[in-house]
Amino acid sequence: MLTVGDVFTSYGMIKALNGVTLSASEGEITCLLGPNGAGKTTLMFTIAGILRAQAGSIKFDGQSIERLSAAKVVEAGIALVPENRLVFPTMSVEENLEAGAFIRVAKDRAGVDDDIERMYMRFPVLKERREQMAGTLSGGEQQMLALARALMSRPRILLMDEPSVGLAPLIVEDIFQIIRDVNADGMTILLVEQNANMALSVADKFYLLEHGRVTFEGAPGELEQDEVIRRAYLGTE
Ligand SMILES: Nc1ncnc2c1ncn2[C@@H]1O[C@H](COP(=O)(O)OP(=O)(O)OP(=O)(O)O)[C@@H](O)[C@H]1O
Ligand SMILES: [Mg+2]
Repeated sequence: MLTVGDVFTSYGMIKALNGVTLSASEGEITCLLGPNGAGKTTLMFTIAGILRAQAGSIKFDGQSIERLSAAKVVEAGIALVPENRLVFPTMSVEENLEAGAFIRVAKDRAGVDDDIERMYMRFPVLKERREQMAGTLSGGEQQMLALARALMSRPRILLMDEPSVGLAPLIVEDIFQIIRDVNADGMTILLVEQNANMALSVADKFYLLEHGRVTFEGAPGELEQDEVIRRAYLGTE
């Protein structure tokens, strides 16, 4: 469904992605693991059209998307749940959800309202707090809001950047259960995680990214768990 072919992305002189090739298949959870600074967020931003690749191709459903603006990428059916949640802190929960539907709120008010109600069914904690300012939610609640906001664009694939970071273990379990549920409803997911154990527990396929390059790809079980964890945290060097 999504294929990234030999993508290079730099920040000025700093080369963050040095020829990344990977793919995510429809209906699957594909995980991307790798140490700090490996280029995981850079890859998510490049797919999402927030950063521009210097070279390489990004295809979604056979359509080239590497030249599209971030808004057009959302319209194409790709939604990013950014690292560190990044909800709009001074807007209410409900306003954040509406913002997630920015591509169609003007022409489909009733559909957006229906989707907000659907989000409240999936995330009851958000319903209780619909009027609350998003910046005052707990970390776990903000993660749920960031996910619900992304779903409001009715994506076909979700890019999730480290949804578990900084959350207590019980909350991490909740978040991963929601990831499983959303996937079971048919959503394709590309998931960046530092928590290799949790990632491997949900992944159909995973990639290791080190120094802006893919150094392993396979299914969970094809590489020993200890080795995955070591390389996901520390890299090979
Ligand atoms: N805005 C920026 N300007 C310059 N260099 C940057 C910028 N953002 C990231 N980098 C560099 O690009 C490389 C990849 O960073 P990136 O944020 O993609 O890593 P990451 O794998 O997401 O790491 P983490 O696990 O810490 O989130 C790093 O060397 C980083 O210092
Ligand atoms: Mg990152």
